[in-house]
Amino acid sequence: MKKQKIIVTGGCGYIGSHTTVALQNAGFDVVILDNLMNSQIDTLDRIAEITGIRPSFERIDCTDVNAMHDVFARHSDAMGVIHFAALKAVGESVAHPLKYYKNNILSLLNTLEMMLEFKIPNIVFSSSATVYGEPDQLPVTEDTPLKPATSPYGQTKIMAENIIRDTVKANPELHAVLLRYFNPIGAHPSGKIGELPIGVPNNLMPYVTQVAAGIREQLNVFGNDYNTPDGFCIRDYIDVNDLADAHVAALEHMKTNDVKVEVYNLGTGRGLSVMEIIKAFEDATGVKLNYTIAARRPGDVPAIWACSDLANEKLGWRAKIPLTETMRTAWQWQKNVSKL
Ligand code: NAD
Ligand code: UFG
Repeated sequence: MKKQKIIVTGGCGYIGSHTTVALQNAGFDVVILDNLMNSQIDTLDRIAEITGIRPSFERIDCTDVNAMHDVFARHSDAMGVIHFAALKAVGESVAHPLKYYKNNILSLLNTLEMMLEFKIPNIVFSSSATVYGEPDQLPVTEDTPLKPATSPYGQTKIMAENIIRDTVKANPELHAVLLRYFNPIGAHPSGKIGELPIGVPNNLMPYVTQVAAGIREQLNVFGNDYNTPDGFCIRDYIDVNDLADAHVAALEHMKTNDVKVEVYNLGTGRGLSVMEIIKAFEDATGVKLNYTIAARRPGDVPAIWACSDLANEKLGWRAKIPLTETMRTAWQWQKNVSKL
């Protein structure tokens, strides 16, 4: 039987590469569109080593409508698009808002236009827990009211969700699943793919592993005076391999259900504090972390974690990978990267 084709924008990136592995393992034929602005071409070789299949690759910028037209014309038999391509650094988006609006919004507009022109019916979009801001109730469900975004990055996610909703409303032949990721961490158990932050990491986990590897001197723990049980910020850390599986589940769901626009939280349902993450890393790896308590980071919400019951009920998906395993894969990946 002919494999079903999926276009994956941003497929060389952190979540996109793990999702490509999951898609290939599930029997999909993947075409990656990436301009490599935050990833490396070698990722394609690593994916091939893991799955035995090298995904098709188109090096293009999704903001370039002519290039997108050319690529979509050649892959118009795709059954769907998973749209990961975006810039994602919150702080950078505050300093360079136009760069973020242009890249993230124009990429999405072009993707939707091409999907309509070439009659590709299904889009899965990477949204974020950032759309909930500082929620009034925990855990957050998909019905929890959204808060105004506190950064241009967050604003692009809210705008993107609205653009997709309006486009589906006007074009009922289009179907959309919006996945709101909580905090993706970890790496593939093979140690061949993982997160590759450029420069000083903004996110907790890559900072933790770089301190453990001796690349950075110490971890700054941002704030210990939050109104949480241990005073540290709480997040819902989800293994990137679990997250990848949710995309496959979303596509399978779209094949057999009359989806218009559906929204799913992707988290574990468990909130962990920064200190609990530090301890979990130390326990799983046996490596002691050098850390210090620093001032709160502006813009951080004190606590957020997901209710992912809806994804379990409708997509048959839930996060399964134990935290210890996630810590080990994150560390293994860091050790492999340090050797590169
Ligand atoms: P990433 O930076 O590792 O991957 C994004 C990929 O998209 C990169 O390979 C980059 O080169 C590519 N890209 C960016 N702009 C492009 C463009 N205009 N044309 C072509 N390719 C382009 O990021 P990630 O962590 O894998 O995130 C994937 C998606 O998930 C993003 O939309 C991000 O906003 C969203 N998300 C990420 C997180 C997180 O913490 N990692 C949390 C919530 C949502
Ligand atoms: N933290 C530290 N020290 C660090 C880095 C982070 O203490 O060096 C703390 C933060 O204060 C926060 C927690 O670790 O309490 C997690 O921080 P991250 O930067 O890893 O993640 P965020 O929850 O701030 O943001 C992430 C993504 C955003 C996304 C958001 C919601 O980076 O893109 O989740 O999905 F919008």
